[in-house]
Amino acid sequence: MTTICPARRTNDPFLTDVLAGLSRPQKRLPSKYFYDAAGSRLFDHITELDEYYPTRTELAIVRAHAGAMVARWGPQCLLIELGAGSLMKVRLLLGQLDRPAGYVPVDMSGEHLRAAARELATDYPDLRVYPVVADFTRPFEAPPVQAARRVVYFPGSTIGNFDPPEADALLDRIARLVGPGGGLLLGIDLRKEPAVLETAYNDAQGVTAAFNRNLLVRINRELGADFDPARFRHRAFYSPERSRIEMHLVSADDQRVRIGDATFSFRAGESIHTENSYKYEPSEFARRAADCGLRADETWTDENGYFAVLYLTVAN
Ligand code: AVI
Repeated sequence: MTTICPARRTNDPFLTDVLAGLSRPQKRLPSKYFYDAAGSRLFDHITELDEYYPTRTELAIVRAHAGAMVARWGPQCLLIELGAGSLMKVRLLLGQLDRPAGYVPVDMSGEHLRAAARELATDYPDLRVYPVVADFTRPFEAPPVQAARRVVYFPGSTIGNFDPPEADALLDRIARLVGPGGGLLLGIDLRKEPAVLETAYNDAQGVTAAFNRNLLVRINRELGADFDPARFRHRAFYSPERSRIEMHLVSADDQRVRIGDATFSFRAGESIHTENSYKYEPSEFARRAADCGLRADETWTDENGYFAVLYLTVAN
């Protein structure tokens, strides 16, 4: 069996988070670790599935209103994108910017980010691109670029993957990052019939199930664990009380798993809670954002009311 190297033992946040999460009475794993290379590919596949409406709905909203969104920012704006991934969505906005001060894609996956940033710089030769490799769930520094205004772009309803206190803390940090006069263009997924939601997270091809189980594959590879992913079943359901989709991995039988020196026991039917995906009502979200210093200036949505893109600003 692979052993965990000493560097991993002492200060690897992944190992620390996994050991702490699996030691809780309701076992948990942070969803931000879904996105290794294989997980990112599986997520890209999810976004193309018929059942998964958020991505295509958000893209249609931005495509329809990109001009109005960008018109609010004026010239010399520095656009900072959180969780930038393959830098596809932002292309809808970049072409409309008025002499931008620059574009700062922020992502945890350095290799992926640098390759995508190089490609973008080729397609937009006049745009200054400043990639930042960082975990945006923790404080990070934006490059010190002179700009008339800073705007954060946070698409994809990823804010929904944060529990309310963490989402508020993130909104608070974004407000401080952009400063007075700055803005936030944010995608949020809206409340809707549970059947639509549950279908989106239980696709017929099992791509979401593979995405969920890939977290165990990653833990095996990077932390020297011996999970058998086939002995964990994907489960995703909507909780109306909490207004969120919960994803779990449910142990098929009684089993033990080793991660380095640690051993974890699972009873048959016991689950690891791997993700929450909160669904909002726009006015309720706007109230929460206001408490974090962000005022909702405009909301764009689709004809079904499935998804919303909000523009929020920090008062001058
Ligand atoms: C990235 N995030 C907004 C997705 C969501 O819908 O919560 C992650 C995802 N999980 C399962 N399917 C997609």
